Amino acid sequence: MQYSCYSIPFLFVIGVVLSPTTALAHQHYHRCTAKFYELTKSKNMSRCLRLPTLGAEMGWSAPLLKNCHHVFEVVFGAPVREEKGWLAWGVNPTPEGRMVGTRAAIGIKDPSGPPHCKTYSVGYETRRACGPLRPRDVEEMKCLRFEYDSRTEYYHLTATLNLSSTDYNVSKLHIVWQSGFDADGDVPKKHVSDLKNIDSFETVDLVSGQCSDMAFIKIFLRQVHGIMNIIGWGTMLPVGVIIARFFREFPIQTNDGWYYFHVSCQSIGFSIGAIGWGIGIWLAHSSPHHIFFTHHVLGIIIFVFATLQTLAIRFKPGKTDDFRKLWNIYHHFLGYALLPLIFINIFEGIRILKPDNKNTWKLAVIGILTALGVITFILEAYTWKEFIDEKKDQKKDATRICESTKEDQRAGSINKHQHGSEINHDGSKGQHPVSSQHPLANTPSTQQGNNTPNI
Ligand SMILES: *[C@@H]1O[C@H](CO)[C@@H](O)[C@H](O)[C@H]1NC(C)=O
Ligand SMILES: *[C@@H]1O[C@H](CO)[C@@H](O)[C@H](O)[C@H]1NC(C)=O
Ligand SMILES: *[C@@H]1O[C@H](CO)[C@@H](O)[C@H](O)[C@H]1NC(C)=O
Repeated sequence: MQYSCYSIPFLFVIGVVLSPTTALAHQHYHRCTAKFYELTKSKNMSRCLRLPTLGAEMGWSAPLLKNCHHVFEVVFGAPVREEKGWLAWGVNPTPEGRMVGTRAAIGIKDPSGPPHCKTYSVGYETRRACGPLRPRDVEEMKCLRFEYDSRTEYYHLTATLNLSSTDYNVSKLHIVWQSGFDADGDVPKKHVSDLKNIDSFETVDLVSGQCSDMAFIKIFLRQVHGIMNIIGWGTMLPVGVIIARFFREFPIQTNDGWYYFHVSCQSIGFSIGAIGWGIGIWLAHSSPHHIFFTHHVLGIIIFVFATLQTLAIRFKPGKTDDFRKLWNIYHHFLGYALLPLIFINIFEGIRILKPDNKNTWKLAVIGILTALGVITFILEAYTWKEFIDEKKDQKKDATRICESTKEDQRAGSINKHQHGSEINHDGSKGQHPVSSQHPLANTPSTQQGNNTPNI
């Protein structure tokens, strides 16, 4: 019986491990689109790379070493839809290779004239938005052109680079790219902080044309993080709660069978969720300047309380303990309170992720929620129906017993109708197991200690 719980993560593992589409997508990732490839060819560039974000692609000529300087040409293209949009491509000599410290060529679409292109040096004050990013000459590059290409429908900038081999290793060059939607003359305005903007850096080997795949790995891990938490915390934990709520004595009265179901669902769900959570924390640390505060804090709260709930397997008070009743209230309250938090955070995660198939993700989660809701509703209605039927039967039986008692004995056994167990003996309709208990008996306030085995 318990094994049905294991099938969900099992299917998931199969799905992840046997996803050759992932590998194919990976291959496909680096290959330039045919049109952009044509563009680089026409510029005599031998290398081409599709970048993982913002729909960007780049091509370059083989770097030539002259007087300890690598000299080459780069073309960088991406779609720019906004009227005053801009595109940036740069190199960063620091090992982290992020925005700060980048020397960049930035091309700006100008509604009042031809698109233009300048070089910039991005400092800390730019990240903190403490001042405008003004053009200045840098020794690393010169921007030659920024123009629209109707075949690729990209704007693309062409730059010549001259990188000192003491500062830059062209086999391990940290590149950064970006696109924004507004500019003021020569000054590009801050870009949005979506994941695709945050992920826009990579380490590239200009000699072999390989890249480190960091952005690709992060994009992949975010999906894994999302799927694991939707399955672990968004599906298994609620199923475990439903088991504890409705299956104590239904559909078959087992000796604590529900408890093993509950514990196995919750521990598997917790394990999957915890791995997903760990991946999430790693992802947050990999972009420390862009923490998604709500998602991050909610994630930590959920993890801490889910851990407390899971520790109950070992550390709950004994069945006969005076403290037990109070503990049950706490355990149930926390369990129910966690569920809305989990779903809020799942939707928050999807909002941040902005996956291409965003609607599929949302529909999947809404589907899970609806299924859980419908199951809960049906079980709740069924339990109440059984309870009401049972109450009616008890009343009928009780009156009959009272009448027969009056007739037969006329003695003072008025208390007798309170003992439900004796009702069955007079051959009346058999009781359904569920109905022997008030439906709310499973909720904290009326929890009966003997329902829960002491493990
Ligand atoms: C590309 O190379 C060919 C042959 O070396 C040359 O004739 C042509 O002018 C070059 N084109 C550009 C855009 O540099
Ligand atoms: C590259 O830069 C160095 C130092 O600024 C300069 O001496 C050299 O002439 C430049 N090379 C080219 C090809 O522009
Ligand atoms: C440049 O990077 C490559 C690849 O990581 C490495 O093998 C090489 O030693 C580096 N060169 C220098 C001068 O640091």
